[in-house]
Amino acid sequence: MAQDRIIIFDTTLRDGEQSPGMSMNLEEKLMVAEALDTMGVDVIEAGFAMASNGDFESVHEIAKRTKNAVVCSLARAKPADIERAAEALKPAAQARIHTFISTSDIHLKYQFRLTKEEVLVIINDTVKLARKYTDNVEWSAMDATRSDKDYLCKAVETAIKAGATTVNIPDTVGYATPDDYGALIRHLKNSVPNIDKAVISTHCQNDLGLATANSLAAIMNGARQIECTINGIGERAGNTALEEVVMAIKTRHDLYNFATNIDTTHITRISRLVQNITGALVQVNKAIVGANAFAHESGIHQDGMLKNANTYEIMTPESIGLSKSNLVMGKHSGRHAFRERVLELGFDIGDNAFEEAFHRFKDLADKKKEIYDEDIIALLDNEARKEDPIQLESLHITCGTIGPQTAMLCLRVDGDVRRVTIEGNGPVDATFNAIMALVPHQAKLKLYQVSAITQGTDAQAEVTVRLENTEGQIVNGVGSNIDTVVASALAYINALCKLQSLRQRVSLSDR
Ligand code: KIV
Repeated sequence: MAQDRIIIFDTTLRDGEQSPGMSMNLEEKLMVAEALDTMGVDVIEAGFAMASNGDFESVHEIAKRTKNAVVCSLARAKPADIERAAEALKPAAQARIHTFISTSDIHLKYQFRLTKEEVLVIINDTVKLARKYTDNVEWSAMDATRSDKDYLCKAVETAIKAGATTVNIPDTVGYATPDDYGALIRHLKNSVPNIDKAVISTHCQNDLGLATANSLAAIMNGARQIECTINGIGERAGNTALEEVVMAIKTRHDLYNFATNIDTTHITRISRLVQNITGALVQVNKAIVGANAFAHESGIHQDGMLKNANTYEIMTPESIGLSKSNLVMGKHSGRHAFRERVLELGFDIGDNAFEEAFHRFKDLADKKKEIYDEDIIALLDNEARKEDPIQLESLHITCGTIGPQTAMLCLRVDGDVRRVTIEGNGPVDATFNAIMALVPHQAKLKLYQVSAITQGTDAQAEVTVRLENTEGQIVNGVGSNIDTVVASALAYINALCKLQSLRQRVSLSDR
């Protein structure tokens, strides 16, 4: 039987980025967009162009650079939003405008203060306006799963009549279950007279932990686009995880007779890239990409695995790009081997960036005997910070049982070299006090978290620092280094740079 294609619509850079602490700067968004494009994502929702000048710029840059995927911008059901999205998407080879409005009684009464009839007029007008700029228009019925079914059908029909080519049925509040979500999609498929003129899409939030199951139920009932994010990041409990739906379709092909365009061997690398950039580490037992997802600990499982991997493994680590023996290099490894490894890990960097990365690799190899893939990924991700306004020049720490613990710190701030020596309650506290003295700010430390990137006492530490500014905006900074205190300084500096670049955004619910 011929397989239907499922369109994978990634919204890591929009729904994912919209959640607290997940904001990314332009460089970081470009890296994620490139990785999504390379792995075969069909549609990249690059942002919400009207939200801020920064969002506009990132949609515009991603539109310019993306080679294969359709690039999409979100827009509320307002002419100014749609025009701004169209402007940002101008350079795209394939552009989609994604406009939305709520359809549930509760949203219309309390949030939008509009009647159902007024909303139908808005849907018609805004979809028609979007179609003036592109023939690829997606319309979403926010809070679809809590909407009156007959009204939802009417709204979907109106959107398609006005020119929507994709109709998205979001479970905005994560309320649906697989049975009722599947039934809703089937109902739309059977009841909306012009439904064959559009692709039905799913967008499931994970409040009840059902996002992946709901998305799969939707495709079994007629949906052909899944909206998802890397590592399942997104509003509140997150969104459908791309790696979960794609691997479920691939692994349970006996049930899901569908194909996606995703090269699944890119999953591990992009998962780590997103973790590194956002500072949101995935839980160790997270499906597909958690650190324990392929670890077999119990004796009986290990015994089975040694006899035949199929006894306890339903998919191979290689199928998601997790190399079994990831011990790759040491200080004797040369340029050629390093370049090969960098390419295998999916990084395509220019000659200058490569030379700098190679020097850093040699420095690291002098301090650490065995260099793992994770070390190289962390090192390459650090390269992307070179243009940040605050740079760590040097850090010297005095610590141990005989106090006081002291940090001698030198930073370059907007090109100016600044130095200070300061004490603290321990080396990390002293370092953070020093940063505060050189870059005075009001932000409060909300989280300080350390983990080891690989095994061994010489492993690199990965530190996440979460800061909140006086307007309540939250950012996560990440730093990795063989020295935990240096990693902490890098993470703090990264968070400060993110706060500086964070501009006031309009919210999706502003009317
Ligand atoms: O959750 C939601 O309803 C959304 C829409 C804007 C698609 O994010």
